[in-house]
Amino acid sequence: MRLSSITSGFLALASFTGAAEIVKRAALTQVTSFGANTSGAKMYIYVPDKLAANPAIIVAVHYCSGTASAYYSGTPYAKLAEQYGFIVIYPESPYSGTCWDVSSPATLTHNGGGNSNSIANMVTYTISKYNADSSRVFVTGTSSGAMMTNVLSATYPEMFAAASAYSGVPAGCFYTGSVAGWNSTCSQGQSIHTQTEWANTALNMYPGYTGARPKMQVFHGSADTTLYPQNFNETLKQWSGVFGYTYGSPQQTVGQNPSSAYTKYVYGPNLVGYYGVGVGHSVPVMGDLDLAWFGITGGGSPTTTSTPAASTTAAPSSTLVTSTKPSTTSATATPSSTPGTCTAARWAQCGGSGFTGCTTCASPYACKVSNAYYSQCL
Ligand SMILES: *[C@@H]1O[C@H](CO)[C@@H](O)[C@H](O)[C@H]1NC(C)=O
Ligand SMILES: *[C@@H]1O[C@H](CO)[C@@H](O)[C@H](O)[C@H]1NC(C)=O
Ligand SMILES: *[C@@H]1O[C@H](CO)[C@@H](O)[C@H](O)[C@H]1NC(C)=O
Repeated sequence: MRLSSITSGFLALASFTGAAEIVKRAALTQVTSFGANTSGAKMYIYVPDKLAANPAIIVAVHYCSGTASAYYSGTPYAKLAEQYGFIVIYPESPYSGTCWDVSSPATLTHNGGGNSNSIANMVTYTISKYNADSSRVFVTGTSSGAMMTNVLSATYPEMFAAASAYSGVPAGCFYTGSVAGWNSTCSQGQSIHTQTEWANTALNMYPGYTGARPKMQVFHGSADTTLYPQNFNETLKQWSGVFGYTYGSPQQTVGQNPSSAYTKYVYGPNLVGYYGVGVGHSVPVMGDLDLAWFGITGGGSPTTTSTPAASTTAAPSSTLVTSTKPSTTSATATPSSTPGTCTAARWAQCGGSGFTGCTTCASPYACKVSNAYYSQCL
């Protein structure tokens, strides 16, 4: 009944103003029914006004403490979607603290029922609903979202054509055996394995699969104290092993690319790493570079742009933030506890844009800024 009255109201408006004058505006929208969802992950989607026929899909995965909405407004993908007509899926973690589950046996297994499975089901739903191009599905993410990018590339290699990971860890490195665990051995860069071991870790997430695999683009900063920079090397070991490239000697090394802090390491057509010297955990999302890597723009190979990377994004600056006492935005929401009179446990969030909880860490841990949105007791 309610639906019919809304519909008839809409039709009346349409007949009054003329359908062509109704401005349709794309918006971030939650999809509550996308298939099996045993892990409870939430699905948000951005379908641009100018949707291409048989559109590509980018899955954009947020960081710990992030939300679909924060990643939607903090990254350039939705804006680029309007320009190029692709769809963006923004999954949202169901867990407190909104890190992704990249640590349980379920999520580290093809069709294992964990978060990776839920996200794969979001993709399948979107391909069917919007007649999207199943050969042009891509995944990207930041921090915990970059970990998930690597996990999805290993668990659903048949689904993704290319991936771009900002400040993550190798697929399987965060294994703890529990859901949404925190593996500090890995985060601190102490999970060091051979190329073969890392490759097998990824390959074993979908045993028996012999088809194509996503080409991988990996970003990391040398001054990352949340996920130590060794994780850059270990991630490149993993994917170079999967693709059969030599880890120790990249085919090409290009300095000051895409901007002065970064060096680009080309291992082969399917693997490129960008290492930012002096760059912290907040590597800015480089939307133009991602679109070129995905083949949505250009020839499908990474291109050098003359535009400074930071200008392509609304993400926080790449400057290493050394403050230990993050400023929290003055809360419009009521703090659940009064900052200053409570302490956050080890690993807990202690600051970031919009954060209203405890900003002091339990001794002996300090509140470390990861990016504008997230500080953590480490
Ligand atoms: C997935 O789980 C979330 C959280 O429980 C729920 O909000 C959503 O409706 C579920 N979606 C599906 C398709 O089951
Ligand atoms: C983290 O990973 C390492 C190496 O795989 C493993 O030895 C360690 O037990 C893991 N940590 C936790 C907390 O499970
Ligand atoms: C990791 O890779 C970077 C970039 O190639 C390099 O500068 C650094 O020495 C490597 N670290 C180790 C331990 O190999």
